[in-house]
Amino acid sequence: MRKVGTIIDNLRSGEKAPNRHENPYLTEALQLSEYLLTQAELQKVFPNIFKDMQKPIVVEVGCYMGKNVIELAQGNNNMNFLGIDITYKRVVKSARKLKRFDINNGKIAICDARYLMNDLLPDQFLDGICVFFPDPWPKDRHEKNRLLNQQFIQVVYQKLKPNGFFWFKSDHLVYFTQTNDLLLKSGFVADDFDNNQPRPQPDNIIGGPYETAFQKLFINKGIPFYQRVYLKI
Ligand SMILES: C[S@@+](CC[C@H](N)C(=O)[O-])C[C@H]1O[C@@H](n2cnc3c(N)ncnc32)[C@H](O)[C@@H]1O
Repeated sequence: MRKVGTIIDNLRSGEKAPNRHENPYLTEALQLSEYLLTQAELQKVFPNIFKDMQKPIVVEVGCYMGKNVIELAQGNNNMNFLGIDITYKRVVKSARKLKRFDINNGKIAICDARYLMNDLLPDQFLDGICVFFPDPWPKDRHEKNRLLNQQFIQVVYQKLKPNGFFWFKSDHLVYFTQTNDLLLKSGFVADDFDNNQPRPQPDNIIGGPYETAFQKLFINKGIPFYQRVYLKI
């Protein structure tokens, strides 16, 4: 991921693409600089990620092809949304949609969530963090690869402003239950709401009928999933 980000950085600064990197996604990434940031670019512009930095900022970790970040941005013009993912084809596809829909309260970054949380963001910077269907690493020996562990959740808590929210969805019941326990132990309070009703404003929590790409897939296959919103009180 870092390597691809560096290639995009080099191409954007005018370097010729080495042959093996001449692929349409990298070429397209060059034309999406208004919407797609590399990790280095994010660091450089930080904290001025969005045009209007007065709006609350929500990060979606693992934004995949951008469906959700785009719908959230379109549905909540009063907020800014940063979608991050580690896969360059996915971030290019996400940024392509931001451009197509002319969204100015949304950005995409090719960026590892661990870097963003541990190294870039100051404490109490974000108004919300969404982690929807993170890779479940279902085998026992791979459990250590899960993003949502105690250390990460503690950092997430620190990066949120008071009243900030953490919105979590998973189809993996064990991962969901373990994460739920860790969140509650870390100081979060569960904020249960009717998933089909938009939250009343101005409490800055966005519920409503947002369906991620994976969520749609699970619904179509009849696979159950679990979600909860947590507040930093
Ligand atoms: C199972 S998919 C879920 C995608 C989307 N959230 C949804 O619900 O449709 C998980 C996504 O998280 C991304 N991802 C995995 N580890 C990540 C990390 N450390 N930082 C950012 N994104 C990550 C993957 O590339 C993938 O796109």
